[in-house]
Amino acid sequence: MRRFVVVGHKAVTTPKFSLNDLPGGAGRMDIVARCVNASLFLSHAPPVAIRFSGEKVRYLSPDERSPAALIKKALEKGVPPAGEQECTPGVYISKQSFADVIGSLDDIVYLHEDGEDIRGARLTGDETFVLSDHQNLTPEEEEILATKGARKVSLGKKLYHADHCIVMVNYELDRRSDS
Ligand SMILES: C[S@@+](CC[C@H](N)C(=O)[O-])C[C@H]1O[C@@H](n2cnc3c(N)ncnc32)[C@H](O)[C@@H]1O
Repeated sequence: MRRFVVVGHKAVTTPKFSLNDLPGGAGRMDIVARCVNASLFLSHAPPVAIRFSGEKVRYLSPDERSPAALIKKALEKGVPPAGEQECTPGVYISKQSFADVIGSLDDIVYLHEDGEDIRGARLTGDETFVLSDHQNLTPEEEEILATKGARKVSLGKKLYHADHCIVMVNYELDRRSDS
């Protein structure tokens, strides 16, 4: 299964944000929402992780408000003391740090412009791809990935938006599985 982890450094983790101000007051929740649409994703903003299951998610349409509304609903439900709680069909909330999320996953690929070219990279389609939002990952976050043995894979030297990167990864992997 293909997985995407998107780090929302400024994303608001209380349900008070306005669906009318996703890029501003919601801390670039627009990026997170677009990433949901570009994949189905696991988003994290310490210490809250929100996971979207592609198989089970409902009420998701390809605009920014709909995934943002599902994130808002999940935050309204609140973080359970332990484990994951399903908030709406296919959307889960848990109290996990970035280190917790990465620690629980294998075959981590850090998408970074300085990595190995994706076209020559060995990929099985069962990887977890990690992206940042509008900011770089912090040195501490990069260290967590390095400790887990994450490989750096590049889509080229130009910098793209996170959701566009997800589209490109899906395109590259779909082409491989189609041929
Ligand atoms: C908009 S970029 C990050 C912004 C950037 N750090 C800056 O200087 O403003 C969002 C994420 O997309 C991924 N990304 C962007 N361009 C990429 C590329 N050429 N190859 C691989 N990943 C890329 C990276 O994971 C990055 O953290």
